This record gives sequence, structure tokens and C-alpha cells, in this order.
Amino acid sequence: MNIYTLDSEEAFVQTAAGLITALVTSRPRAKLGLATGSTPVGLYAKLVDMHRQGLVSFAGVTTYNLDEYVGLPEQHSESYRTFMNEKLFKHVDISLDQTHVPNGNAADLEQECLRYDRMLEENGPVDLQLLGIGHNGHIGFNEPGNHLIGGTHVVPLKEETRVANARFFDSLDEVPTHAITMGAATIMKSRQILLLIRGADKAEIARQALTGPITTDCPASLLQCHPNVVVLLDEGAGRYFR
Ligand code: F6R
Repeated sequence: MNIYTLDSEEAFVQTAAGLITALVTSRPRAKLGLATGSTPVGLYAKLVDMHRQGLVSFAGVTTYNLDEYVGLPEQHSESYRTFMNEKLFKHVDISLDQTHVPNGNAADLEQECLRYDRMLEENGPVDLQLLGIGHNGHIGFNEPGNHLIGGTHVVPLKEETRVANARFFDSLDEVPTHAITMGAATIMKSRQILLLIRGADKAEIARQALTGPITTDCPASLLQCHPNVVVLLDEGAGRYFR
């Protein structure tokens, strides 16, 4: 793993954006795996900015998002489809047909998981998978437990994850109870992984995930087995890595 601690928000965002734009420039038909949540918001704003300045084009890129809530209408302000459209897709030169987010409203969710995996299998592997990490070590919505699931699947969200995400909703009751997520094997198949970790409240889980035992109790620890991972920590999250 290549682990870097950046000492300013600007350096953190600039480094992440630099890695993505370098890939997209050298491989215009790159396949990007994308994440939502608060962590990549600054990165997406920087990519939009760089696109507006003519520094990067996403016209040939295809994207695959990690996850989506189950049962939240696609147009809901907190659906991950809306998040991606608003934070990135609408503002760059990518056609929405080239962007993929699991459909959390599919009539048959099991079929939807199979469809998503088949699509990744046929079109993959993803060149670069962007990840954040939950306070409990989840990646995508692969939650801690006594096992991990390889492929895309429906997952009941841990109470702590619903509580963490309640900040985006009017109340905890509105946070969906389930999500569709890419599985651990799907994530591990990507050629490169870019894991972003921000905030002092993530310092401890960063230490566990990056230097602790590899265990399903901390799904992100599995990334230690991947041959090509770049981890960017901001000053707060990087307390143990200076
Ligand atoms: C989002 C995702 C999640 C988040 C994680 C951290 O697509 O897959 O694993 O990366 O919950 O969320 P934030 O960045 O809001 O702390």
C-alpha cells in the first residue's frame, strides 16, 4: 500500500484529482469505480473545476458506482444516483448512459445484483476504484461481521451506519434500512484502488484498516491484500502515519 498524509485540504483534493485525471488522460476510455458520501465531495468539485478549465475530458469514460440505497426513489435528493448527477455527472462531458449506479428500486433486487455483476464482468475490470471508509471499517456497504460477500448483493445497514448517514436526512427514520453494494471480490478485482480517508474521527479506523490484522471485523483491512492501493489521508485521519 502506498500511504500518503497530506497536510492541507487543497493538497488532499489536488492529489486525488491528479491521480484520476492522469489516468483518464492516458486512458480516455477508462472505467472508474466511484463512491459517494462526504469524503469525495471536494474531489468531485475539483474534477468539475479542472474539466471547466479544459484540463480533463470524461467523454470516453464509463463509471460504476459502489452502492445505492434500497427503496429510495431515484430522484430523491439523497439517492446516490442524485448525488452523482449533482456532484459530478451533470457538470462534466460524460453521457449519463455511460454512468452506472445499482438500481435500488428494481422489482427484483437479486436480479439487479446479478445484472450489475454481469455488466462489471463483461466490461471490467475497473481501472480505478475510489473508496471511502466508514467509522466501522465498511467499504461500499460491506459491513463488519463474520463473513464478507464477494459479489454485488443486498445488505441490511448496520444501525451505526444509518445513524452516521442520518445527517443527510431529516430524521433517522427516513434513512433506508437496506442498500445494494458491490461485494468484496468485485472491489478487489479493480486494477487500482484509491482510498480516501478524511477527519480526525477516522484516524483510529485508518490505523486498524491499514496496519491491523486482516479481518472481516474491519472490511477495509482486506485492501492490504490488493497489489495496487493508494491511500490518501488528511491531517486529521493521518495522525498515526506521520
Ligand atoms: C459510499 C460508500 C461508503 C462511504 C463511507 C464513508 O458510496 O460506499 O462506504 O464511503 O460510508 O462515508 P463518508 O465519506 O460520508 O464518511
